[in-house]
Amino acid sequence: MKRRNFIKKTSISSLSLVAASAMIGCKGSDDEKSEEKPIVPLKNNIKPLVIATWNTPTAVNAAAEVLESGGSALDAVEAGCKIEEANAKNQTVGIGGLPDRDGNVTLDACIMDDKGNYGAVLCVENIKHVISVARKVMEDTPHVILAGRGAEQFAVSQGFEREDLLTEASKKAWEEWKVKSEYKPIINIENHDTIGMLAIDKEGNISGACTTSGLAYKMRGRVGDSPVIGGGLFIDNEIGGAAATGLGEEVLKTVGSFLVVELMRQGKSPQEACEEAIKRIVSKPNSNYKNFQVGYIAVNKRGEIGGYSIHEWFSYNVYKEGANKNIKSDYYLKT
Ligand code: GLY
Repeated sequence: MKRRNFIKKTSISSLSLVAASAMIGCKGSDDEKSEEKPIVPLKNNIKPLVIATWNTPTAVNAAAEVLESGGSALDAVEAGCKIEEANAKNQTVGIGGLPDRDGNVTLDACIMDDKGNYGAVLCVENIKHVISVARKVMEDTPHVILAGRGAEQFAVSQGFEREDLLTEASKKAWEEWKVKSEYKPIINIENHDTIGMLAIDKEGNISGACTTSGLAYKMRGRVGDSPVIGGGLFIDNEIGGAAATGLGEEVLKTVGSFLVVELMRQGKSPQEACEEAIKRIVSKPNSNYKNFQVGYIAVNKRGEIGGYSIHEWFSYNVYKEGANKNIKSDYYLKT
């Protein structure tokens, strides 16, 4: 395939609140001194919660079902992401994802649990449920990242089936794109490139997951923010979690999800933290932000949520207290 000089042309150019609600063993009478009382979190005010990028009600429902039946946040985010990975109509995640400029569908994913463990796979072909492969990397290997053919081989060794991920619809879209071979990030409602999902379970623990086919018609081998810890996803069970969507290169250059969590650690609400992280991108010297989209979602240990993007049309789904709603995100660039 003729090499295209597209890079230069493109714009790539509670504090634990549990503590506040904990019953701390205190030493009063002599009798009590002899008996160590454990720190027992009060659980009756912890409500399961799921938040995910874009209009993803089915995925969020799947995660919520896991939580409501007493499952862990980790199981919930994996189950939720798998819904979109198996949805061939979603051309930004899993099977049916739009290919790179040479026609290869390559997937990226990562997962983080409440203990700070992380696993990721990068640029994987022929395997649909990369979020589950990322979890296997986290739980069953001494590593945190596997890439390319090695990741695919590992997946097959773990029982994952190889399948062709390029659907007829995505092949047709790619062939149409090839006529002009013009690469530019598209700013509209269709550009929902990634599912990032955060969940709090009945124990009050937070986990997160992120899965994507990345930018449509990207260079072969290109990897975005989604599988990179602190980029597309970051969890700190004492503070909260954050996930990103949009142009991964810009998220990576500001370590976006880590930044959101650290801003929450400093006392910002999830909403304020998302807004500040977007401002870091748009206020960079020579930022080309009018030509690309980035969006963040966040949750803190208290179950407060936030979301913010550069442009209009970003939304996120939230499950809380039995209701699953799509929320239109506030955004920076208002004309
Ligand atoms: N945010 C997904 C990507 O840039 O690949």
